[in-house]
Amino acid sequence: MNPSPVIFPKPDEKNLAKHAAAAKALEFVKDGMTLGLGTGSTAYWFVILLAERIHKDGLKVTCATTSTQTWDLAKEYGVPVYPLDEVGVMDIVVDGADEVSSDYQLIKGGGAALLQEKIVATASEQMIVIVDSSKMVEVLGQFHLPVEVVRFGAQTTKAAIEKLLGVSDVKSAKTAFRMKGDEFLITDEGHYILDCICEEIRDPKALNLALNQIPGVVENGLFIDLADIVVVGNEGGDPKVLRRSV
Ligand code: A5P
Repeated sequence: MNPSPVIFPKPDEKNLAKHAAAAKALEFVKDGMTLGLGTGSTAYWFVILLAERIHKDGLKVTCATTSTQTWDLAKEYGVPVYPLDEVGVMDIVVDGADEVSSDYQLIKGGGAALLQEKIVATASEQMIVIVDSSKMVEVLGQFHLPVEVVRFGAQTTKAAIEKLLGVSDVKSAKTAFRMKGDEFLITDEGHYILDCICEEIRDPKALNLALNQIPGVVENGLFIDLADIVVVGNEGGDPKVLRRSV
């Protein structure tokens, strides 16, 4: 008996822009490449479309993932995934973002995967960010900036982060631990996420460096000078392909 055919999901109307961005990003993928697979509802479509190409066209790629969520998704649809240390430097990482500023800096981590996402993005020759147009902003900060902190002394680290925000070039300095029901959300690496309500982050480069100096901070969701290409999907017509000038 033949195994039952794989059925690949199709986007409904509200996912058309994300799907279009993912499809455009797939055009950058060539046979034999090593890829980083992002996390979130836009990266989801990239994994599905990649799986379809592998299945139908025999595309050969080797992938690492940025979360257990994406690892499980890739496995489910037959995308070959390996631990990052077995894949090494990747040709391209394709990932979503929560905000993209006019100079292509990013806030990521809405899905709590920012630590693995930043490690994978830094280990990739090229980062392609896939978003719908709602993610494009002039100045970062409307989306809460996630900071991954170790559990030990988390309230002390929270106070240190608030103190830093108080003297940083941001509009608001409130923070809140991300919850999952009544419990603190725990990341794939066993940490908490502290969401910083900055409203406006006028100097993301400085804030990125300063946050990572605080003991107890593992990483933060500012992705500085990492995005090479931003693909902005829309519901009809061709996605826009924007390139960060270096
Ligand atoms: C995951 O931690 C995030 O960085 C996502 O990449 C980001 O939140 C974008 O997700 P969506 O594509 O679901 O908006």
